Amino acid sequence: MTTSAPAPENDSADIEFADRDRIATLQLERLKWSLRHAYDNVPHYRGSFDAAGVHPDDLKELGDLSKFPFTTKADLRANYPFGMFAVPRERVSRIHASSGTTGQPTVVGYTAGDLNNWADLIARSLRAAGVRPTDMVHVAYGYGLFTGGLGAHYGAERLGCTVLPVSGGMTERQVQLIRDFEPDAIMVTPSYLLTILDMMLRMGVDPAATSLRVGVVGAEPWTESMRGELEHAFGIDAVDIYGLSEVMGPGVAMECVETKDGLHIWEDHFYPEIIDPLTGEVLPDGSEGELVFTSLTKEAFPIIRYRTRDLSRLLPGTARTMRRMQKITGRSDDMIILRGVNLFPTQIEELILTVPALAAQFECVLDRPERLDQLTIRVEARPGTAPADCDVAANTLAQQVKRRIGVSVSVDVLTPGAIERSTGKARRLIDRRPR
Ligand code: DLL
Repeated sequence: MTTSAPAPENDSADIEFADRDRIATLQLERLKWSLRHAYDNVPHYRGSFDAAGVHPDDLKELGDLSKFPFTTKADLRANYPFGMFAVPRERVSRIHASSGTTGQPTVVGYTAGDLNNWADLIARSLRAAGVRPTDMVHVAYGYGLFTGGLGAHYGAERLGCTVLPVSGGMTERQVQLIRDFEPDAIMVTPSYLLTILDMMLRMGVDPAATSLRVGVVGAEPWTESMRGELEHAFGIDAVDIYGLSEVMGPGVAMECVETKDGLHIWEDHFYPEIIDPLTGEVLPDGSEGELVFTSLTKEAFPIIRYRTRDLSRLLPGTARTMRRMQKITGRSDDMIILRGVNLFPTQIEELILTVPALAAQFECVLDRPERLDQLTIRVEARPGTAPADCDVAANTLAQQVKRRIGVSVSVDVLTPGAIERSTGKARRLIDRRPR
């Protein structure tokens, strides 16, 4: 059995607009290869398929995938560092890892062929975002083991852009480079773009007057209100890019600038499912649940039915024929259950941005002062807000949360700059409850 993925179709824009039958035919052919590749070359998959009593030959149609077992982060940890690789180490051209918040990092690998596909998919994503080959792209995602920086970098080069490999951090320098080099697009997390915005205001740079035209924004959940905030402040189109290390990195799905209506999943390389997170049952398109991905072409690190913990819905294609995923509501890990009510930091973000005196710099602190959990929203006032207006804003936000989500929370309105700035993914949830 070969460990090389079936020869890719050229990454012409053609496949993005292919009819559903052609996409399904390609997916079935690739899925058969991917299952067989995982089974033949990764002891974990052979073991888990055998234990579930399924074999790659049992896949006759796409729906048969539901017979195969899920893969979880715990499986990847148990096979740390290289146990999930399906090719000899010498064929692995690059390794990335996601640090996660606890425990061992998750290690992933790429063959030269995988890197080639990845660059193609980022180039495709950038095109969908409205970035052109003649543009200059400022990459503010972190370079290193994180997939954001290098993933974005090679894709922007592949499209033909001039790439500024800035990485995250040193925010004053980011502003200076934007001012001096005049990039057309920036690839960045939404929270770090806000940090850059603050810095511009502090340095007396008018964000709306910069050269930036497009923000390719992702790696963490963000809301429509945040889109409004960023687009208004910078005068850009802010479009959402999604991905995760285990499945590839950035570029698994991308929002198209012409519709901004959720993210088109690059279904010729990744097969998505939505499941009920409690029962594992596959749900019909349109239902909200946990996203599960199976890679169709990955050689070094095939991933079968990976449970992402990201909550979304699958929707039909619009600007492309490939299906969309709705903007991520949150990760099941970030769900706050407060006195029986489920809520996500994204819901808090939406409400904060309805209160004019409040900025989108916030964190949710969970505590258990006595026997009941308590949520405190710590949020910054916009610069120049009078103390009396801060009190009014705190009350307004608390009332909005009570009315819209149905729980009582405390709100602390802080002076601008009080919340630690992120240079990558923001930490929105701080859990101080005793274990
Ligand atoms: O964050 C890959 C990436 C880099 C995506 C740059 C986009 C841009 P990980 O560090 O493995 O990989 O984290 C993956 O981040 O499961 C989601 O929970 C979250 N995430 C990524 N993109 C989005 C997004 C990169 N657009 C985890 N919206 C995923 C919401 C996102 N959450």
